[in-house]
Amino acid sequence: MSLPGLLSPLPTINMCGKGRVLVRVDMNVPIDKNSGEILDEYRIEAHSRTIRYLVDSGLPVVVVTHQGRPGDAEFVSLEKHSQALSKYLGMDVHFIDDVMGPRAREEISKLGPGEVLMLDNLRFVSEEIIEGEPQKLAGTYLVTRLAPLFNHFILDAFATAHRSQPSIVGFPYVLPSCMGGLVMESEVNALSKVLDARGVSTVLIAGGAKVPETVKTVKVLLSKRIIGKVLLGGLVGQLFLALGHGNNKLMGNVKVGQETINDVLEIMKTFSDSIVLPVDAVQSDDKVVEPGNAQSMLDVGPATIELFNKHIMSADVAIMTGPLGLVEVEKYSRGTREVLRSMVDNAQFTVIGGGHTIMSARKFGLINRISHVSTGGRAFIQFLADPYLPGIKALELSRSRFWV
Ligand code: 3PG
Ligand code: MG
Repeated sequence: MSLPGLLSPLPTINMCGKGRVLVRVDMNVPIDKNSGEILDEYRIEAHSRTIRYLVDSGLPVVVVTHQGRPGDAEFVSLEKHSQALSKYLGMDVHFIDDVMGPRAREEISKLGPGEVLMLDNLRFVSEEIIEGEPQKLAGTYLVTRLAPLFNHFILDAFATAHRSQPSIVGFPYVLPSCMGGLVMESEVNALSKVLDARGVSTVLIAGGAKVPETVKTVKVLLSKRIIGKVLLGGLVGQLFLALGHGNNKLMGNVKVGQETINDVLEIMKTFSDSIVLPVDAVQSDDKVVEPGNAQSMLDVGPATIELFNKHIMSADVAIMTGPLGLVEVEKYSRGTREVLRSMVDNAQFTVIGGGHTIMSARKFGLINRISHVSTGGRAFIQFLADPYLPGIKALELSRSRFWV
């Protein structure tokens, strides 16, 4: 495992192969508001591989995840998640609608070798959304009630590793902890490879709606010369166009603070040779217009697709952090489709992340041709800018407390 700049390697899953294990995964998935059905099982399938490894090692395995945020429609109980997990594992998964109460603790203590128990939504415990230092969060009820029942903690939730919450950083403080193998370790390895590859032949396709974090990542990757070119689309691209062309209409639905605006202005000034902006846009009346006159940009236009493809053709590594248009609507998904296709046809190593990007790649039948599909959205974008996510740091701290 080669995290860039890391002095000593993080503990790997084989080191956590004794006794009862608590595995923190990220099975936070899109849920249909009306039916309550799970709309995409990608994360569940991905984590099932780590869980399978632990089952095959004969360990009693307790699985925890969050789902949604308090107050939103996706904030639901996890029985369906446990059924989906059971399908991917091809075995029974016990589920209990309790997180840390006496019933949960009793079920945990009764668990036999190779058995899997899934607890309910971690965010049903209000402490779980506190952000803080590992030592402080190790003192929460969640951690103090559950940790004594386990020998090891395994952090596989790469997609939540950017959160400094009790289940991510509190458990590693009190339990000898490891990276989960099939998600966390694979993510760290693949993304570290991208950061190590650094150079002019690495191209970043930065789209999507996570504007402030994407702008920050673009700035860091250009400053460190990890990427040679950045191709901009989606809401992120819209912000660059709005500021570059003085086109206020394009600011419409991009809500960002002054710091992000300053970053964009600085990027355009300092790295003008490295940024590639859309040269045409599809607006809401479906007309293709020049960016300076555009009322909106629901997709990039044909001239932009051609321009972007030219840059991708000479790339060895191509990373896409978010779609170039409103991909939920078929007619605005063309830019994303063409660029994804060009990525898999031309680059040797391709990486994508984020729910909408993954959904698009799957819809266009390209997902199996991507070298690495990240389970992370924000975590993925933030890792590229700074791999020392709170979850990674917590594992390092755990190593220094328990392994050496
Ligand atoms: C995600 O989907 O990005 C992760 O599961 C984290 O969820 P959160 O943003 O609600 O913490
Ligand atoms: Mg999310």
